[in-house]
Amino acid sequence: MTDLARLVQALPKAELHLHLEGSLEPELMFELARRNGIAIPYDSVEAIRAAYDFSNLQDFLDIYYVGMNVLVTEADFFDLTWAYLSRVHDENVRHVEVFFDPQGHTDRGIPFETVLNGISRALDKAEADWGLTSRLILCFLRHLSEEAAIETLEMAKPHLDRIHGVGLDSSELGNPPSKFQRVFEAAGALGLKRVAHAGEEGPPAYVHEALDLLKVDRIDHGNRALEDGTLVARLGREQMTLTVCPLSNLRLCGIKRLEDHPLKRMLALGLRATVNSDDPAYFGGYVNDNYIRTAAAIDLNADEIIELAKNSFRGAFLPAEEIERHLAEIDAVVEGVSWRARWAVARRCARYPFGIRGIRPAPNLYTARKPVLGAEHAGIDFDFDHGICVAGIDRSGRGAGQSGAGDPRPYSHPGHAARSGGGRFERRRAGRCQLRAGYDVRREHVRRKSHPIPVSGCQSGPRGFLQCRSDRG
Ligand code: HPA
Ligand code: ZN
Repeated sequence: MTDLARLVQALPKAELHLHLEGSLEPELMFELARRNGIAIPYDSVEAIRAAYDFSNLQDFLDIYYVGMNVLVTEADFFDLTWAYLSRVHDENVRHVEVFFDPQGHTDRGIPFETVLNGISRALDKAEADWGLTSRLILCFLRHLSEEAAIETLEMAKPHLDRIHGVGLDSSELGNPPSKFQRVFEAAGALGLKRVAHAGEEGPPAYVHEALDLLKVDRIDHGNRALEDGTLVARLGREQMTLTVCPLSNLRLCGIKRLEDHPLKRMLALGLRATVNSDDPAYFGGYVNDNYIRTAAAIDLNADEIIELAKNSFRGAFLPAEEIERHLAEIDAVVEGVSWRARWAVARRCARYPFGIRGIRPAPNLYTARKPVLGAEHAGIDFDFDHGICVAGIDRSGRGAGQSGAGDPRPYSHPGHAARSGGGRFERRRAGRCQLRAGYDVRREHVRRKSHPIPVSGCQSGPRGFLQCRSDRG
């Protein structure tokens, strides 16, 4: 893993522009086609991938609507959503705001509730299992009529506890935001957030319309806004979030080479740009790939990468205090770890899911899942300030704990007092660690409860210590 990839992985992130149907990987498309007896015009996963060669947005959409035909049952929508969430959970994404296209399904006779139930079951599970929060945004297909959009909004009305906002996607050129002014007004009156794709292929005038007529809270893409100085000044002044999708722009030929991407310029202009994957199964990369490949291509520095991660939370439809908490967590990653160590944080990091009774998880505690000590599901929370790892148990009751051996900071300061209620690893000498037993949230003994922490070669030590051998030792 490169230093750049390590930093991107270590940063907590939100993804704000993701079409769930665009996360349908060819393998799952094939499986669902078989499961549901649906014919698709490809005879192999390779043939599907080979078809993903687009010249513009419409080329892509033609294939995207064919692909989604395999989604039929509630289980299909659950599997689709779960696959995406699992993937971004591994990328240290903490919050997602995802689009779905109900008209792409209801027009095929799939009930609105089937779609919504499958998706929301997966979203709920990700929050329960991992603390990965989400918002669901219903998109209107702009190549269809406003009347059709109004009918869709009617279907959504009984379910507004699970739908947070409305969006506008599909073929942009020839379908300006003004076509949907009434339905966006109605959505606003229902208390829904409003976003719209604008300036992906359409002119700056479409971005103006989205702001003035649709009263959007965010602009999806917005690349072509850069052609209009007045608009740029306004977007900067209003700190309007732009959900930029670099690999999508490349694959849909908005730019010829990733090196030509305007993201760095957007930041320099003071725009609140974010990085997102749009339709990752079709465009060749999930959110971390978008950060990494773009940063490499246009030479983003660490401060710019950190700013992009912060913008992803600033632009999220979350309460202010939750946004602040995420920003503080990014600061902790950035400040609590030396530069060398920061580059070395190669582990998948996820916020400690519940903390230990009486102790609020410090913002700089991270769970590592990389098998260093030999256990499979463990997670040990790094405390970079103190150079210790706090052991714990994850929500599913499994032992949460792996050490971060290899990182220069954890283990390098033995002797700190263990946090009461927690356990901790310390390095005593190269290759040997000790887990100090403690108590988890249920006041159960960590040593007993989390014994899947089962560090290889672990044995009882004095006074509740476990003596463990590091695999790296
Ligand atoms: N642009 C517009 N509409 C879409 C997209 C996109 O990238 N993906 C799915 N619907
Ligand atoms: Zn999009």
